[in-house]
Amino acid sequence: IREPLVLGIETSCDETGIGIVRGRTLLANVIASSMDEHARYGGVVPEIAARAHLEALQPTLSAALAEADVSLDDLDAIAVTSGPGLAGALMVGVGAAKALALGAGKPLYAVNHLVGHVGADVLRDDGSEIELPTIALLVSGGHTSLLHVRDLVDDVELLGETIDDAAGEAFDKVARLLGLPYPGGPQIDRVAADGDPAAIRFPRGLTLPKDLEKHRYDFSFSGLKTAVARWVEKTEAAGSPVPTADVAASFREAVVDVLLTKALAACADRGVPRLLLGGGVVANARVREVAAARCAEAGIELRIPPLSLCTDNGAMIAVLGAELVARGRRPSPLSFGADSTLPV
Ligand code: KG4
Ligand code: ZN
Repeated sequence: IREPLVLGIETSCDETGIGIVRGRTLLANVIASSMDEHARYGGVVPEIAARAHLEALQPTLSAALAEADVSLDDLDAIAVTSGPGLAGALMVGVGAAKALALGAGKPLYAVNHLVGHVGADVLRDDGSEIELPTIALLVSGGHTSLLHVRDLVDDVELLGETIDDAAGEAFDKVARLLGLPYPGGPQIDRVAADGDPAAIRFPRGLTLPKDLEKHRYDFSFSGLKTAVARWVEKTEAAGSPVPTADVAASFREAVVDVLLTKALAACADRGVPRLLLGGGVVANARVREVAAARCAEAGIELRIPPLSLCTDNGAMIAVLGAELVARGRRPSPLSFGADSTLPV
């Protein structure tokens, strides 16, 4: 089937996403988020996320089928995120996908969430197609990964990832210690607009020569978070007001600097003149500015899918399913499970 009709289910974190595609054409992309329920905890609570998926799946599915104007019967296949992500959250999606596939008699494909973020780029409606190979930098509240993608289905290499906090998580934690509400990324972005990014020199994780040997493409943000906390404590202890805008701008600069330095190093090392961004942190104004400037300077083509496709969604899972169907791949055996650390 060249243009298969595929429904994708994504529940790896706090977004319940159901998307429907026909080949590489987006028909529906409906998302329910449990973000508000996590706000008072300052981060995603796995148990709450899993319960929220259970409640949101059916209405999200109905809305997606209505938006695409198709029925379950029309589908050629169903695809679901089997990992990586929160175990309990993934299990809800995988269980629902199996039930749907069995009930409707449709083939089911297990898909990797990170590769899904790369596939999202296929769905933009400006007519441009992703060119491969590409380096992909995926940054959200749950992951910070650098990939070398030669083929969407068969050849994705994980170059590096965070060894502690995800970049979005760092934004959320630093926002919290500055007294800003959750999710912290947009708040830091807003406050940082009036600050001086060079006011405070915060550490750039895993960028020292000794770190680069083993962790050339890995990230670390927990030391940065601690450095910000210490700086704020010291300032308060001295009885001085905390210059929130400068702290936010300097913190944001440290994160963005490391993200793009490592991504561009990967492009240079691998001789790949293309960089694709994905994940919720791509909403960051400074990430976009610095990415645009450094890619232009290095002669690297920068691709950023629209934000609705950057954040977690079901359409990016559906499009990988469609790719597998179009290539005549066999469906996944229904014995597969959720794998919170699924490799690419
Ligand atoms: O991809 P996403 O919507 O969901 C998951 O991580 O599941 O990403 C959400 C993350 C949060 O940590 C949020 O603080 C961060 O992305 N984020 C941002 C911005 N907007 C969202 N981080 C930095 N700057 C932003 N403007
Ligand atoms: Zn994601």
